[in-house]
Amino acid sequence: METKKQRVFSGIRPTGGLHIGNYLGSIKQWVDLQDQSNDCVFAVVDYHALTTHQENLGKNSINLAKWVIASGVDPQKSPIILQSQISEHTELAWIFTCLEPLGELYRMTQFKEKKTGIKEGAVKTGLLAYPLLMAADILLYQTEIVPVGEDQKQHIELARNIAQKFNRKFGKVFTEPKVRLSEAPKVMSLKNPKKKMSKTDTNGIALLDSAEQIKAKIMLAVTDSAPGNEMSQGIKNLFALIKIFAPELLANFEKEYENKTIKYIDLKTELTLAIGKHLQPIQAKYSQISAGEILNVFRASREKILPLAQKTLSEVKKAIGIL
Ligand code: TRP
Repeated sequence: METKKQRVFSGIRPTGGLHIGNYLGSIKQWVDLQDQSNDCVFAVVDYHALTTHQENLGKNSINLAKWVIASGVDPQKSPIILQSQISEHTELAWIFTCLEPLGELYRMTQFKEKKTGIKEGAVKTGLLAYPLLMAADILLYQTEIVPVGEDQKQHIELARNIAQKFNRKFGKVFTEPKVRLSEAPKVMSLKNPKKKMSKTDTNGIALLDSAEQIKAKIMLAVTDSAPGNEMSQGIKNLFALIKIFAPELLANFEKEYENKTIKYIDLKTELTLAIGKHLQPIQAKYSQISAGEILNVFRASREKILPLAQKTLSEVKKAIGIL
């Protein structure tokens, strides 16, 4: 069966300290999509990070790109761009701010979440306009598929809607993008498995963690005293991780759980080993990549992809009468 190459675009915010939840939810999906030979463009979206993280931005951008490459994205095949280096993103975003009503932005769940706790007048404009910059990222490259996690679905729908409205009003310029939800299960906090594993979670497994650190964190993961009628959140989370990192052991542990003969210490030991084994080569590669190499990747990626961004933006301008 022949499958057509699809244009894929996705971005991650360089906010520092990646953990396995970010890796599984985004980067690993990118590698898979690249390996299914799509036309991928991946972005370190520093202007998105700027809405909330103004410290160490440059260093975080470089380190994030290192992780992306160390995990298997090949910048020769899939450009890895630094968003701020392609000014077409912000230019197109400005055009969208002039076309989109505020109401569309106020209803975004992410905006509602991110502004909680901030005094009304103090919420940054960028936080509200965020989805328009994201729409620009996607639409500039005539993207067909956007791999993201569930929390970003609404933003992709907005981007699609912006493309449809623009095409109807000004003539067809944009491809209408579709979301591709990450297949990876949400990795929950080991300490509080009702919450997502996050950067502020001291027990989150960082991509940089040593074997000892991984062990200490997994050993502290909450379980329950014994298998009950319904699997506890903590055990569900550990099983989800086993399924990803040591799928060959899953059936056996499930059987043991059912028979109530499982020893959680064995589950944790195997998981510790499997995560360590998975991360080790990625960490080794990460430590070999220099900042200079990343700057070169950003430069070469920009060069490769800039003509497409310029073409789209000039069609947009032409359609709306910007000379
Ligand atoms: N908003 C996304 C996030 O927080 C990151 C992002 C920015 C993105 N631009 C994008 C994702 C374009 C996909 C496509 O995860």
